[in-house]
Amino acid sequence: MIKVKNICCIGAGYVGGPTMAVIAQKCPEINVRVVDLDKDKINAWNDSDLSNLPVKEPGLSDIIKKVRNKNLFFSNDIDDAIIKSDMIFIAVNTPTKTSGEGKGMAADLKYVISCAENIARVATKDKIVIEKSTLPVRTAEKLKEILSKNAKPNVNFDIISNPEFLAEGTAINDLYKSDRVLIGGDNSARGKNAVDKLVNIYTKWIPKNKIITTNVWSSELSKLASNAMLAQRISSINSLSALCEATGADTDEVSKVIGLDKRIGPRFLKASVGFGGSCFQKDILNLVYLCRGYQLNEVADYWEQVIKINDYQKSRFSKKILELTKDNNVTLLGWAFKKNTNDSRESAAIYVSEILINNNITIHIYDPMVSEQRILLDLKLLFEYKNFSKKEIDKKLMNVNIYKTHNEAINNSKVIGLVTEWDEFIEYDWEEISQKSNISIVDGRNILGQRLNNINNIKYFKL
Ligand code: NAD
Ligand code: UDX
Repeated sequence: MIKVKNICCIGAGYVGGPTMAVIAQKCPEINVRVVDLDKDKINAWNDSDLSNLPVKEPGLSDIIKKVRNKNLFFSNDIDDAIIKSDMIFIAVNTPTKTSGEGKGMAADLKYVISCAENIARVATKDKIVIEKSTLPVRTAEKLKEILSKNAKPNVNFDIISNPEFLAEGTAINDLYKSDRVLIGGDNSARGKNAVDKLVNIYTKWIPKNKIITTNVWSSELSKLASNAMLAQRISSINSLSALCEATGADTDEVSKVIGLDKRIGPRFLKASVGFGGSCFQKDILNLVYLCRGYQLNEVADYWEQVIKINDYQKSRFSKKILELTKDNNVTLLGWAFKKNTNDSRESAAIYVSEILINNNITIHIYDPMVSEQRILLDLKLLFEYKNFSKKEIDKKLMNVNIYKTHNEAINNSKVIGLVTEWDEFIEYDWEEISQKSNISIVDGRNILGQRLNNINNIKYFKL
């Protein structure tokens, strides 16, 4: 079998950047090109100051330092990368549609489709095209159609599904030590050959027994289903946290007991203000939409409930904050959707803020990694989506203050909502903070309980 020497990845985001960095590191004989339409992003990937990389992940900058411009290249020249590559990963965003058929539910495939059109337009020889983005089951069929319709004569494409399972904040470790690598291909001789080529890349660092090959549809669906199952666990424990509050049971204790059952296991049972991130909600909505498309309404209703509980949890948390607030000021600690990332897509913080702002609360925000610009953009996009005018949005954003230090944010109010589980929040000198005034903390991550045990001036509420 001819070995793959040149690969490229379209999409230099949270998936494309880290995955290709790891492939480049583990396969020094392969040239890896990562391309994107976004010029600023590519400049940031090429910045000599590694603290400016567009994706912040523990361990990522060390790899970039070693392999960038050796066998890992970031560029905006998408056509050139396609022409030079034997294998092309598509890792572009697949957000929920905001208009048209399937609005608010279906995955928007316009970026993936435009990649397929681009590949077909410029490819002068056969290519293996790899779905790295998370896609609805049977998207490969659609891509095949687009590729063959637009291809130059005698150029053939093999489509493989290779969904990514990394989680943000632990991306590099997840890529180094994947629980499994999933590769879906078709059963023809060509299809098998294409799958083998990709398997050969992963075997450089992943044990063979962890590389699972399936048919394309199983692979596409397994990714959606995995995310749905993980999110479902969080909604399950979050739903029980409401019952814990009503009965005096302790959510963490209940979670611990449930998780000690080997059949269930302890992970993804931490109660929270609600899951966020660019994947869970989008992928479940997509799953629900798919089920409805196949007239599987009971199945769709089941998964939809995971989202409903997540929304309920965000409003339950906000309601608790509102009950405690006497002077219309609230501090929010954390904006990222989880710790150790600068990503705030679908973060619970956005929806909690919306509820608070709509109740005329002035919010004071601190997050160690998310920029002020990003926080304001998150809120602006939400209000635009809700059809508020520019004037109304500007007025709403007047109620938002963002600070560079936690002390400034905390000094401005007597009620704190903890939204992200940043480690530094546990380390703060809460004793000293409590001496300045009586404060209440609603802990959306249940991380401060032990830390605040002997501090009298702080009223503490956990989920
Ligand atoms: P992202 O938004 O961080 O990056 C996507 C990039 O694609 C952007 O930089 C965008 O400019 C670029 N892009 C869009 N259309 C393009 C085009 N036609 N040509 C060139 N570049 C184009 O997205 P992400 O978080 O990396 O997610 C990518 C995919 O991977 C999604 O389908 C997502 O569901 C899936 N996924 C994400 C994660 C995660 O943790 N973020 C994990 C697993 C899977
Ligand atoms: C998720 C999947 O875990 C990953 O496999 C997939 O490839 C992409 O989507 P990610 O969204 O990056 O990864 O982070 P994850 O760790 O799954 O957390 C998602 C959300 O759930 C976060 O808001 C997190 O804080 C929350 N969460 C997680 C909980 O509220 N409780 C938990 O027990 C675990």
